[in-house]
Amino acid sequence: MAGLIPQQFIDDLLDRTDIVEVIDGRVALRKSGQNYSGLCPFHNEKTPSFTVSQSKQFYHCFGCGAHGNAIGFLMEFDRMEFPQAVEHLARQAGVEVPVERSANPEKKKKQDSLYDQLQKAQDFFSQQLRQHPSKERAINYLKGRQLTGETAKAFAIGYAPPGWENLRETLSKSEKDEQQLIEAGLLIKREDRDGCYDRFRDRIIFPIRDNRGRTIAFGGRVLGDDKPKYLNSPESPVFHKGNELYGLYEARQASNRLSRFLIVEGYMDVVALAQHGIHYTVATLGTSASEAHLNKLFRMVPEVIFCFDGDNAGRKAAARALDTALPILEDGRQVRFLFLPEGEDPDSLVHQEGKDAFEQRLNQAMTLPDYLFAAVSDGLNLDNLDDKARMSKLALEKMQPMPRGMLYELMIQQLAQMTGLSTDNLKETAAKGDGASASTS
Ligand code: CTP
Ligand code: MN
Repeated sequence: MAGLIPQQFIDDLLDRTDIVEVIDGRVALRKSGQNYSGLCPFHNEKTPSFTVSQSKQFYHCFGCGAHGNAIGFLMEFDRMEFPQAVEHLARQAGVEVPVERSANPEKKKKQDSLYDQLQKAQDFFSQQLRQHPSKERAINYLKGRQLTGETAKAFAIGYAPPGWENLRETLSKSEKDEQQLIEAGLLIKREDRDGCYDRFRDRIIFPIRDNRGRTIAFGGRVLGDDKPKYLNSPESPVFHKGNELYGLYEARQASNRLSRFLIVEGYMDVVALAQHGIHYTVATLGTSASEAHLNKLFRMVPEVIFCFDGDNAGRKAAARALDTALPILEDGRQVRFLFLPEGEDPDSLVHQEGKDAFEQRLNQAMTLPDYLFAAVSDGLNLDNLDDKARMSKLALEKMQPMPRGMLYELMIQQLAQMTGLSTDNLKETAAKGDGASASTS
């Protein structure tokens, strides 16, 4: 079965996996010099001869000779089969194992043909932007939004012309095609009579691509003020929006040395920022960022900045993002929050003020601890003892899902400074709040 998972996928997966993280959850590891070491889980020993190399992404035991990569470790330690180990790591990385894995040629063929149809649809949409009699409207719209041809090309932006059956007539040559186009979300079955119509009509089209650059879905924006302003492909066998981020593929194409990601709300924000040389932007697809989204980004970079509008909706979204991020804040992962002036979004701002000024804002974005403490002391007056007590309680509750690492420790110290309570006292209170994991140490 092993041979059925493409080697390229396995290599990529191992690239994004940190073996130290995989093993550390299962064997207590200590940093010693460049490597990590601990008691070997594969033989009995009193002094550690088991080492894990972060740079080489291998484990090795000098005592018993056990040796391997992250996949090998899961197979030995958790007694997983190879495909199961790959599946496990893929889930952690927030990626889908390519269907070849299923050893189910039917299913693979089916998905392959969905990818084919989606690619054909993308070709159709970009051809329409160049050829359709009403292409000028689309081109003028894009020009009005200050998009260059080069940017449109990098994001493979297209145009779904007006009319109900343009795509259907071009792509659906058989019953089978029709079925696939429905499954891919491109056609919708008519309710009143036989046949189908195009989902995307008279819209600017943004292809959504997976890690490998395959088109898996589309977003479409109206040219005017019609509603809904944006329309997305529905979930399909190849598109799960809780996992996918718009712009991620393009960001990785633009640079192979990414050091941070910026998460924004919209397609146009990603595209406009990229046009101004800010290539490390992604957008969720009409949902709030999920843990899977964040894990996916943190496999590639140590820092993620959320960008929010300065209005009420933005503040609410930030509060949600905080709750999503807290449980996965292992040491070394940094989350920050950027609040834009009311009425602006990244698209409008970067056009107004340019790359440097926008990056200046990013560099000054609020750290997660600052945001958390500000959020829980909102409306309180920290000169009052009872407000300080209340703030401590709220902060500890908020911090409860955090991994107990250095960041947690530092935040406890800061909370102690802010409230005048001792760190011991705060930790004791936190431990009580932890319930089952409460400890008196
Ligand atoms: N969105 C979506 N599905 C929807 C509505 C919105 O995926 N049904 C996402 C899109 O990525 C869109 C983003 O949410 O780009 C922001 O939508 P909106 O608030 O309408 O953004 P605007 O800035 O108003 O859009 P534009 O700049 O294109 O006018
Ligand atoms: Mn906008």
